[in-house]
Amino acid sequence: MDHRSPAQQREVHFSPADRHGLYKAIFNRRDVRGQFKPDPIPEAVLSRILLAAHHAPSVGFMQPWDFVIVTDPEVKRRVHAGFLEAQAREMELFSGDRKELYRTLKLEGIMEAPVNICVTCDRGRTGAIVLGRTNDMAMDLYSSVCAVQNLWLAARAEGLGVGWVSILHRDVLPGVLGIPEPVVPIAYLCMGYVTGFHERPELETARWLPRLPLDDLVHGNTWGNKDAPSCASLKEHLRQDMARARQGTIPDKAEE
Ligand SMILES: Cc1cc2nc3c(=O)[nH]c(=O)nc-3n(C[C@H](O)[C@H](O)[C@H](O)COP(=O)(O)O)c2cc1C
Repeated sequence: MDHRSPAQQREVHFSPADRHGLYKAIFNRRDVRGQFKPDPIPEAVLSRILLAAHHAPSVGFMQPWDFVIVTDPEVKRRVHAGFLEAQAREMELFSGDRKELYRTLKLEGIMEAPVNICVTCDRGRTGAIVLGRTNDMAMDLYSSVCAVQNLWLAARAEGLGVGWVSILHRDVLPGVLGIPEPVVPIAYLCMGYVTGFHERPELETARWLPRLPLDDLVHGNTWGNKDAPSCASLKEHLRQDMARARQGTIPDKAEE
């Protein structure tokens, strides 16, 4: 039983419009690489987006994140040089048609985006023993990833594109940005206003990979039990919602 006064609690239900807005941000978010405009991001907007990131869940409420805001073209150029090196190395790991397709992909917008943000994880933020992290030390890393996702969705709601650049040797960001141990970079993000948002992931359009059928990823009670009777009608919903989402309909208006 909850003994707190109503004033200490938040509303349980979002209005249909609020709910729609959240799903809209989720389904219309894209990884943006090539559509950045140079227009500056107002600080009031950037502040809201960072505040959204800061309200992500974190293991033991550790809040292990920091945000390095990169706007200096020289700093960006050094990160970009690291990207070019890593991209060349990565491309060699593919062969034949895949390699040719890889060559055509635009995989970053470091120089074009007016703001780059490095989200980090301070692995020692609240000491060695962290509530919830004692059995899996990676939980703090996952927490910083939650902050990245909050940032990404808030940016989308503000009409800003974000692109995650992971094609970087792990030494590049600590070196260029001066990130000290035990802080580790989690995400290097390019952010800015855009000329538009693609309807589908660019890797899907380029036929790198398709979106997987969600109903095939759901298991009933134990791994591999994909035909479990307990999930049969849920899977029918998933198939219908996937089909709607594919047609661009946000499936939040269906029955509860
Ligand atoms: C951890 C992570 C790393 C990523 N690294 C890159 C990257 O280096 N370059 C890139 O173009 N996209 C990168 N992406 C974006 C994915 O390619 C993209 O999320 C995926 O293709 C789905 O597209 P969407 O985000 O537009 O839905 C990354 C995404 C994640 C989550």
